[in-house]
Amino acid sequence: MQFAVEKDKGVLEQVDNLLYEVLWKPRGMPNVRHQFDKGEAEIIFTAREGNNVVGAFVVIIYKDKTAELRHAAVLPEYQGQKAGKGLWNEALKYIKAEGINSIYVYARNTAIGFWEKTGFRAETDWLDHEAFAGSGIRFKIMFFDIK
Ligand SMILES: CC(C)(COP(=O)(O)OP(=O)(O)OC[C@H]1O[C@@H](n2cnc3c(N)ncnc32)[C@H](O)[C@@H]1OP(=O)(O)O)[C@@H](O)C(=O)NCCC(=O)NCCS
Repeated sequence: MQFAVEKDKGVLEQVDNLLYEVLWKPRGMPNVRHQFDKGEAEIIFTAREGNNVVGAFVVIIYKDKTAELRHAAVLPEYQGQKAGKGLWNEALKYIKAEGINSIYVYARNTAIGFWEKTGFRAETDWLDHEAFAGSGIRFKIMFFDIK
C-alpha cells in the first residue's frame, strides 16, 4: 500500500466517492462532503493499491497552528489492514513539518478505539450532530498533541 499527499484532480474525485461510500451512504445520509467547509484549504492523504484509492484522510490546517482531521475513511474490504495507521503516519509527518501543535478529530463512536490506539485522547463527552440525526453516530472531540 502506498501513502501520499494527493493533488491529482482525477484521484481527488475517487477520494470524494470513497468518502461518500464509506462515511455517509451506509447511514442513509446524503453526500455531506462539502457541507462542513468554510473555504479552508484541505490536505488530502491517500492510501492506494496500484491505481485504486482504498483510503483517505482529509486534514484542515488553521492559522493558529492547529489542525483538524475532518474526514477519515478506509474501504470496508481494506479495514483492519493498517491503512488507517499508514494514513495517520503520513498526515503526522506532514503536520509536524508544518509546525502544527495539535490536531483534533470529531471521532465517531464506532471508531473511538482506532483513535485511542493512534494516540488521541477524548476531550468531551458524547456530542450529537444534526446532520447525523437518526444515524446512530455520536461523536467525541479527541486531541493529539504534537511533541
Ligand atoms: C476507522 C478507520 C479509518 C481505521 O482504519 P483501518 O485501516 O481500519 O485501521 P488500522 O488497520 O490501521 O487499525 C489500527 C489499529 O486500530 C484498531 N482499529 C481499527 N478500527 C477500529 C475501530 N473501529 N474500533 C476499534 N479499534 C479499531 C485496529 O484493530 C488496529 O489495532 P492494532 O494496532 O492493535 O492491531 C476505518 O476502519 C474506517 O474507515 N472505518 C469506517 C469509517 C469511520 O468510522 N471513520 C472514522 C470517522 S471518525
